[in-house]
Amino acid sequence: MADIRLEGVGHSYDGGRTWALKPMTWTWQSSRAYALLGPSGCGKTTLLNIISGLITPTVGRIWFGEREVTGVPTAGRNIAQVFQFPVLYEEMSVYDNLAFPLRNRKFPKKEVDQRVRQVSQLLGLDQVLRRRSRRLDPGRQQIVSLGRGLVRPQVAAVLLDEPLTVVDPALKWTLRSKLKEIHRDTGHTLIYVTHDQTEALTFADEVVVLNDGAIVQAGEPAELFLSPSHEFVGHFIGSPGMNMVPAEIAGGVVRVGAAGVGAAPDGLPPGPVRIGVRPEFVRIAGPGASPGAGATVTGIDRMGAYDLVHTRVGEHPVIVKTEAGSACEPDAAVFLHFPADRTFLFRDEVRCGSLAPLNGREPS
Ligand SMILES: Nc1ncnc2c1ncn2[C@@H]1O[C@H](COP(=O)(O)OP(=O)(O)OP(=O)(O)O)[C@@H](O)[C@H]1O
Ligand SMILES: [Mg+2]
Repeated sequence: MADIRLEGVGHSYDGGRTWALKPMTWTWQSSRAYALLGPSGCGKTTLLNIISGLITPTVGRIWFGEREVTGVPTAGRNIAQVFQFPVLYEEMSVYDNLAFPLRNRKFPKKEVDQRVRQVSQLLGLDQVLRRRSRRLDPGRQQIVSLGRGLVRPQVAAVLLDEPLTVVDPALKWTLRSKLKEIHRDTGHTLIYVTHDQTEALTFADEVVVLNDGAIVQAGEPAELFLSPSHEFVGHFIGSPGMNMVPAEIAGGVVRVGAAGVGAAPDGLPPGPVRIGVRPEFVRIAGPGASPGAGATVTGIDRMGAYDLVHTRVGEHPVIVKTEAGSACEPDAAVFLHFPADRTFLFRDEVRCGSLAPLNGREPS
């Protein structure tokens, strides 16, 4: 197995007027499990289809290791692809559907049988192997599709495009764990497309976040949560997402309205910035706490395991996640503290630094 390298790869469906995928250079490392995460229409399927060869990119070149595959059709790429909805032969038995990708490639009968039994056992299909696929419910049919994608022992990559959409929610969790298990056993490169952050974060070694046709950040789940490098990652990941508050750097101090909330990092020019801080890290402090920004409580969601305290700093909403049973009341005046090591500054949506402690510098 080899790395899959995209070199300046981009795609336009309308002759270059708009780019479904903006030209990008990116390497999928061999044997890793990736989640490709992003909202509807951001280019996830386009990117998968370019890797599998269903789409020839408008620009750029694709390499599987040392072999260039840019003009090579799907059949010559040795990729397994699983789509959002079942793709199978309805009149064939489950067994024959699973065996098909192997028989098609002339695997010996014994190996076909061995692989089919292995995969069907892992996916809980061993009791229905003789049944016609047409007679299964759509969720089960999709699991057969998944099996067809996983049955081949040697593939350059397994690409899964929102494969669990039609599967019962209770089964999703089990299937995702199975996929992880299969990944550990086979060492295939897996790329799993989803717009669901929980699915992405629980499945992948590395999450690649795509927005508006461009990769905005890639990293381990904790990295994306703790250290977002783009505003989009801040609000797309997390529940609720990161608070973003307009602020101003003047005289080395970061101010929200008149309140100094921290020092600007060295070298960052004065001017407007946006402060990004997750609800988990904002602290509600007593009146007069310094540094802090005055806020008004606008409401409280008691979620059972935790509370979400909704506040407003001037015109800007800031949500604080606190332990359950918070003593805050609506309309109360509070101070919000933004911890220096968990608060980031953004310009043009891109992170440009972190809030620094005031260290005695006069905030006002
Ligand atoms: N065959 C096509 N012809 C024209 N435009 C297309 C075609 N396929 C996709 N697009 C456009 O390209 C952009 C990216 O689409 P794509 O299907 O790759 O997104 P996606 O991230 O997979 O979305 P979803 O989560 O809804 O599946 C969208 O703006 C879409 O409308
Ligand atoms: Mg799609």
